[in-house]
Amino acid sequence: MKSYHIAVIAGDGIGREVMPEGLRVLETAGRMFDFTCTWEHFDWSCEAYQQTGRMMPVDGLDRLRSFDAIFLGAVGYPGVPDHISLWGLLIPIRRAFHQYVNLRPARLLEGVKSPLANQRSGEIDLMIVRENNEGEYSDVGGRLFVGTEEEMAVQQATFTRRGCDRVMRYAFELARRRRHHVTSATKSNGIIYSMPFWDERFASMSAQYADCHADRYHIDILAAHFVRHPEWFDVVVGSNLFGDILSDLSAAVVGSIGIAPSANLNPERLYPSMFEPVHGSAPDIAGKGIANPIAQIWSGAMMLDHLGEPAAARAIEKAFSSVLAQHGPRTADLGGSSTTQEVGESIAAQLTAGA
Ligand code: NAI
Ligand code: MG
Repeated sequence: MKSYHIAVIAGDGIGREVMPEGLRVLETAGRMFDFTCTWEHFDWSCEAYQQTGRMMPVDGLDRLRSFDAIFLGAVGYPGVPDHISLWGLLIPIRRAFHQYVNLRPARLLEGVKSPLANQRSGEIDLMIVRENNEGEYSDVGGRLFVGTEEEMAVQQATFTRRGCDRVMRYAFELARRRRHHVTSATKSNGIIYSMPFWDERFASMSAQYADCHADRYHIDILAAHFVRHPEWFDVVVGSNLFGDILSDLSAAVVGSIGIAPSANLNPERLYPSMFEPVHGSAPDIAGKGIANPIAQIWSGAMMLDHLGEPAAARAIEKAFSSVLAQHGPRTADLGGSSTTQEVGESIAAQLTAGA
């Protein structure tokens, strides 16, 4: 029987509430598809930071290196500045393990209402491929004359040929398995060095994929098109910042950020990849047991896909899709009144029944 060694970081807030449901569904899938997962839990969080002064131990990355994958809930909590929680845990993991693709599917599922008028299930089905290692998220820069009238901040974005090419290549390869269409998010009219360079790399990459339709939009009108014509898009590739913003927008367009999953991939598999919901720790609803666990569960399905268990991954997707389509239990973000646990249990039961 295949066995996978998974590092589990539930993190903060609702991360701790949705993680048990993610594990429940993965355990169920393992029983049905003949694999086991051994979970090793790491209590790395803002709470740990307040006790130890670190989001993760000094040797944290070394301790994660040998796992088959990392399954993460969410990190961030009031009392710890967001740049500390992000740069103390998530970003080091994404970078040290060359997880340069942040893959974020957005699909309008049956039984879920889009906030947009006239959108029907099946019509919106797109993949955001976000560059995850460089771009606008950079620790190159500094501040000068702090606290004076001359106070200033400089933040350096970095775009490398290697970094652009590898994420764009991933996007085109993905499109070949879908509807053969890649859209690039740019802003080369306003950001006049890095974005024209991004456009050049995209033109060069698209020339190698003549079987795929390639187009590009400036990020501002692209955001408008996501609202007006989300069905136009198949694979959308963007820089770290643009991809981040577009994926919260696409998650909202398909009904709720509570269902949006993501994978931080090292496609070469030299390092573990990490799977986590798009959403954060949601302090406004944390502790109430009402967070939607579907984003965590779907992220778990993406992890199984990556580990080489595609049948189990499809079965999980089918299970939560059926629960939604049959108007089964749902949490408040989708207009229901069920708890996190009730939704998780119902998806696990549907998974078992659907075998
Ligand atoms: P958020 O995603 O935590 O919450 C945004 C809104 O969506 C809130 O109203 C929340 O209640 C709702 N929401 C999120 N997930 C939900 C779910 N599963 N079910 C139902 N409703 C849900 O984003 P926000 O408020 O900007 O950030 C809160 C904290 O999370 C911050 O500390 C931030 O830095 C952190 N964060 C962490 C991320 C990560 O771990 N990857 C990603 C985004 C934010
Ligand atoms: Mg985000």
